[in-house]
Amino acid sequence: MTTTVHVDLGARAYDVRIGAGLIARAGAEIAPLLRRPRVVVVSDATVAAAHLVPLQAGLAAEGIASEALLLPPGEATKCWRELEHVTEWLLSQKVERSDVVVALGGGVIGDLVGFAAAILRRGVRFVQIPTSLLAQVDSSVGGKTGINSPAGKNLVGAFHQPALVLADTGALQTLAPRDFLAGYGEVVKYGLLGDAEFFGWLEAHAGALRGRDPAALDHAVTRSVEMKAGIVMRDETEQGERALLNLGHTFCHALEAATGYSQRLLHGEGVAIGCALAFELSARLGLCAQEDPSRLRAHLREMGMKADLAEIDGALPDAAQLFELMGQDKKVVDGAIRFVLARRIGEAFVGASAPRERVLEVLRDSARG
Ligand SMILES: NC(=O)c1ccc[n+]([C@@H]2O[C@H](COP(=O)([O-])OP(=O)(O)OC[C@H]3O[C@@H](n4cnc5c(N)ncnc54)[C@H](O)[C@@H]3O)[C@@H](O)[C@H]2O)c1
Repeated sequence: MTTTVHVDLGARAYDVRIGAGLIARAGAEIAPLLRRPRVVVVSDATVAAAHLVPLQAGLAAEGIASEALLLPPGEATKCWRELEHVTEWLLSQKVERSDVVVALGGGVIGDLVGFAAAILRRGVRFVQIPTSLLAQVDSSVGGKTGINSPAGKNLVGAFHQPALVLADTGALQTLAPRDFLAGYGEVVKYGLLGDAEFFGWLEAHAGALRGRDPAALDHAVTRSVEMKAGIVMRDETEQGERALLNLGHTFCHALEAATGYSQRLLHGEGVAIGCALAFELSARLGLCAQEDPSRLRAHLREMGMKADLAEIDGALPDAAQLFELMGQDKKVVDGAIRFVLARRIGEAFVGASAPRERVLEVLRDSARG
């Protein structure tokens, strides 16, 4: 079964189609967008090994010709050099303004290819085919595209909404266990920030989700996309509510910087720990009940995920140094760190500041485990 979530952004509106088997049916899904029966596909080598042949067969079944460019997998690909590589390749493929570029892969490919599409000939349309859980529930929806700079992550980019998103939940079966769980960190975030009932559903279906039961995955992805789409429709360019999606991210970005953006800590793992820290801080500030962070940690542990600093491999900077790193985050306004905190599970809010001592205390306790 395929579910459609419509992202209503006026002239930039598009559908997110969710369900198993969409990659094989991509030709029929994409055909209505095309002015000529040809697309170009950019993917990474790992994703392509599992999903490029079915995609190209699905396109060919509808008479759509395709050429593909494969990039190395990993965060390092989201860089200036690969942006130039992709953009020049698209030009060499004679991609015209009316053509469609297809991004097949996780958030790295989606962000990079989306940005290349945004700047190519001042903007060509692109289709996101997200294959990681993180990309299906988060990065493929909402139009944030970009690359990393030596000065920091995601510092160069553009808003460029896709023309269509095909989230083939069947593709999640080939994800490495660690990448799957990292993406799950973003799923939990939606329950925490705005839907207590969904969080309860995730708790009740932890076993099915861990086992990647297809029906459970379809529901988790669909509800997450509905929530992301709702927030993006109300606040496309992050003037207010969209910042709720940064729950856990101020802590996460400091941890990613402290671990050198390496395999020691994947982004989604950092988000999960960051959410646990944000709830702990909220409880200590008397904003939410003490049971809420405990309940969150219990769910993360049941899923086999890390919930505390003590569980990150290797040494970390001390609490004061981590606090410094948090101060370098984009969410600093007039020198004060602006946290997303919570009143309860399912109700987060933007713009809270917290006394330094309280934050240090939370970091120290989490490092002790
Ligand atoms: N644009 C946004 O709004 C937004 C939101 C959140 C995150 N992001 C960005 O997303 C990126 C992280 O995304 P990610 O976690 O998808 O990383 P990723 O694209 O690197 O994918 C993770 C790994 O999984 C592999 N993979 C992906 N799909 C697979 C599949 N179906 N089978 C087997 N292997 C598969 C990839 O090859 C890669 O090795 C970061 O750069 C982050 O900044 C963007």
